[in-house]
Amino acid sequence: MLALTDVSKTYKGKAGEVAALSGLSLDVQRGQSVVLIGPSGCGKTTVLLLASGLLRAEEGTVLINNEPVVKPRLSTGLILQDYGLLPWKTVFENADLGLKIRKVPRQERLQETRQILEQVGIQGFARNYPGELSGGMRQRLALARVLTLDVDLLLMDEPLSALDLELREGLQDLLLAQWRERGYAQVLVTHSIDEAVFLGERIVVMSSRPGKVAAEIANPHAGDVGFRSTPEFFAKATEVRNALLSTGASDGS
Ligand SMILES: Nc1ncnc2c1ncn2[C@@H]1O[C@H](COP(=O)(O)OP(=O)(O)OP(=O)(O)O)[C@@H](O)[C@H]1O
Ligand SMILES: [Mg+2]
Repeated sequence: MLALTDVSKTYKGKAGEVAALSGLSLDVQRGQSVVLIGPSGCGKTTVLLLASGLLRAEEGTVLINNEPVVKPRLSTGLILQDYGLLPWKTVFENADLGLKIRKVPRQERLQETRQILEQVGIQGFARNYPGELSGGMRQRLALARVLTLDVDLLLMDEPLSALDLELREGLQDLLLAQWRERGYAQVLVTHSIDEAVFLGERIVVMSSRPGKVAAEIANPHAGDVGFRSTPEFFAKATEVRNALLSTGASDGS
């Protein structure tokens, strides 16, 4: 459903030009779970911004359902790396925002929002403001907001990076359950090999900047019950680790 073909993106900043992506191609099928992993600065966030329609590529095409992506679409959900929360709205209002924008009736909205805040474990902070939350709580709020939405494509940029191990695994389980139940396609960016192996049916390893696809690892056991403690899990994690190590160092330039 999502197809990036030969995409190149160069940022033009005050300090000159940065070639972020060069000739990157990536296809995501309907309902598929794809994880993007790669060195810092290799262009992972840029891929999500292009797919979401917030950014345009200079070269190549970005299509969803064979239509060029020229602006954000309502049935794409996006969690940005900096969470994208509105500081002047409460936790509840932030969580509720996506449904409100999509004009979901009030009663249904309130119920959904309450339920998802509970599922991510921050219901006790509904009346607080994002500035009063820890980094991990903000991340959970960003996740709650997007999980209420009726989407066919979910783009997530390191949505669990600020969480302790227990919470992180709990929310990985939640992400897995939601993805299974609702059947959307997802593209998840992470630096965690474990997370990639747990959640990605396909693990796409990007090379350092300018980024393109360096390797793709099929991971048919993603989402299996108890997968985390199987020998297959560890073998797959080693495979991803080796692929990552051979892409070169992270972006220090
Ligand atoms: N708005 C911008 N202006 C100029 N350069 C940018 C801009 N956004 C990103 N870049 C550069 O483009 C490259 C790719 O950035 P991007 O954020 O996509 O990387 P990333 O893979 O998501 O990194 P990380 O893992 O650290 O989040 C980096 O070198 C970055 O410095
Ligand atoms: Mg990033």
